[in-house]
Amino acid sequence: MLDIFSAANLKHIAVVPVSGQASELVVTRDNYADAVAEIKSWNGYTETPLHTLRDLSNTLGIGGVFYKDEAPRFGLGSFKALGGSYAGLRVIQRELRKQLGKDISAHDIRKGTYADDVAEITLVSATDGNHGKSLSWGAQRFGAPCRIYIHREVSEIRAQAMRDFGATVTRVDGDYDASVEEARNDANENGWFVVSDTSWEGYTQPPIDVMAGYGVMTRETFEQMRVAPTHVFIQCGCGGLAAGVSASFRQLWGDAAPRVVIVEPELAPCLFESAKAGEKTDVEVHEETLMAGLSVGEPSGIAWQILSAEASDYVTIPESLIAPAMRLLAQPLGDDPKIVAGESAIAGLAALIAGTQQSSLRDALGLTTKSRVLLIGSEGATDPAIYASLVNS
Ligand SMILES: Cc1ncc(COP(=O)(O)O)c(C=O)c1O
Repeated sequence: MLDIFSAANLKHIAVVPVSGQASELVVTRDNYADAVAEIKSWNGYTETPLHTLRDLSNTLGIGGVFYKDEAPRFGLGSFKALGGSYAGLRVIQRELRKQLGKDISAHDIRKGTYADDVAEITLVSATDGNHGKSLSWGAQRFGAPCRIYIHREVSEIRAQAMRDFGATVTRVDGDYDASVEEARNDANENGWFVVSDTSWEGYTQPPIDVMAGYGVMTRETFEQMRVAPTHVFIQCGCGGLAAGVSASFRQLWGDAAPRVVIVEPELAPCLFESAKAGEKTDVEVHEETLMAGLSVGEPSGIAWQILSAEASDYVTIPESLIAPAMRLLAQPLGDDPKIVAGESAIAGLAALIAGTQQSSLRDALGLTTKSRVLLIGSEGATDPAIYASLVNS
């Protein structure tokens, strides 16, 4: 059953992280603490589970596999529920402060005290699905109009999920990076507010807030695990998830923080190429990966700042491992729990399994019988039709 992982062609490079304070300075301890306090006060907040996959870790010959399952997060299906919604709230809060000339509490915005003013603040983003769902859900909760830009490959089920939260959805004839461009241009022309999960020159505050929101997940994991894992394998699109996680773990666990292994589709290896070049590097996405959330050619600048200081390994995986990894969670080994993981959630798992089955990779990644590996289960079946077709393939 693991043969496909043994035979797969993965690329790996190990780098020495640059020294510096990026894990303290880009998203500060205060940023995380504010986000955690705010999000935990929202209606519907509950901790997501951390599963222990004992039979899988025995089979792989490592000390432990832990899976932080973000599928149930606020009923939205992914960890992104924590980011866009929170960053949208902060945009509203900053804009109201500017317009009304006084500090406005998030609590008052949530209560609807400034409903008429909030109704004039349009929030905008490009998305491949999950970030836009989070933003449209948040915008609806806080009373702001929302416009979402999707690229040509985003599934209609994902588009509809955003419309269901009241967003106006525009499909762009191009890839993810083209949808980011169009969202940005339309926002400039119309006085709308971009709430992006990726940063670029001169645009950093909302992506910082997005990463701070992910601190809810890392804080929960910290409390659920108690002893730090030795490794965390994290899938990347623009790198915001991995950066938010690794900076937070460094703040929480200090020198005991896990070794950060970045995992990308071989069709969109922008962080792998950045690590190879020693600087942030864009790649052309010629073919879309099935892992829709990871199909990004341009790393987030602030995420790269953190990752260049925190990540020591960069791995790319082929498309052939996606369905087998999803199936392994849906039909688990022995007594392991059944887990519903969407196609963008399993890259870390796929790289881990291949890493344990290929002896040179196993050594290169420092995987031993003592390794305790954390995986971030970043989504559930956010498109049930795609999920079913892959798991049953
Ligand atoms: C399910 C899922 N996992 C991982 C990622 C990657 O996150 P990031 O783009 O912040 O690297 C995404 C991004 O959309 C996603 O939807």
